[in-house]
Amino acid sequence: MSAARRCAVVTGGARGIGEAITRNLLARGTDVVVADLDEAAIADFRPPADAAGRVTLVTADVAEEGDWHRVLDVARSAYGPVTVLVNNAAISPKRDGQRTPSSEMPLDEWNRVLAVNLTGAFLGAKLVHPGMKAAGWGRIVNISSQAARTGARVAGVHYGATKAALLGLTRTLAFEYGPDGITVNAVTPGRIMTPMAAAVADEVNQAMRAGIPVGRLGTPEDTAAVVGFLASDEAGFVNGATVDANGGSWMG
Ligand SMILES: NC(=O)c1ccc[n+]([C@@H]2O[C@H](COP(=O)([O-])OP(=O)(O)OC[C@H]3O[C@@H](n4cnc5c(N)ncnc54)[C@H](O)[C@@H]3O)[C@@H](O)[C@H]2O)c1
Repeated sequence: MSAARRCAVVTGGARGIGEAITRNLLARGTDVVVADLDEAAIADFRPPADAAGRVTLVTADVAEEGDWHRVLDVARSAYGPVTVLVNNAAISPKRDGQRTPSSEMPLDEWNRVLAVNLTGAFLGAKLVHPGMKAAGWGRIVNISSQAARTGARVAGVHYGATKAALLGLTRTLAFEYGPDGITVNAVTPGRIMTPMAAAVADEVNQAMRAGIPVGRLGTPEDTAAVVGFLASDEAGFVNGATVDANGGSWMG
């Protein structure tokens, strides 16, 4: 398949890391449908000048199966079969910029984080699989976190649990979908300056910076570059992998 004929769905692709992923894929010639719950971020999104008509933004909740069907219908009718899926959308609820202690965490909050961060990725992968299988080519990239490696230090137990679970989802789907020409990989970003990271005190982010050998916090583009590679033809032998992109703050 030529890159120009590809269509990607990027969840949470209207701001932060997801927005950088959207822009990276557009620059590679891939058409993109963004599925994002934040209507203000969707309204603020300005497509690159050379991508007019190649990006469509849809208000959707990845935890809702019906919303997924709507997003995929939009993608198919606008650009054709979805052959790239980036499961990026996630939430990390905090209280006054601090993690919610697990002993005080309401079950509703736990369930909502699992629904968005984990079930959302499962639903997306499940629903794009038939189209990718028919095309004989597909790329699924799940955005996990360094928290999956180290435990969540700033975020709560729900966030840490879902990010680790995404690695199991990734590896299991890599077995299942590999024979169909579809690769499934995960990226575990370290600290990346986005609205999510800005929800904690600046001292916390600066303390994290001190532990990063390259001497800086990450940018959304740092993560997007890895995703762009994993979504490319060149990455066809990378399957079930977890790519740590963290400036050296955790080395496996
Ligand atoms: N920022 C970091 O330091 C960092 C580190 C490691 C991993 N990550 C991961 O990177 C990804 C992006 O994080 P970010 O920092 O850009 O976060 P962010 O909060 O800035 O952006 C997340 C995006 O997801 C969207 N979203 C949230 N819930 C949604 C839902 N139910 N349905 C659809 N869209 C929804 C939001 O509207 C937003 O556009 C997440 O998976 C996050 O866990 C971030």
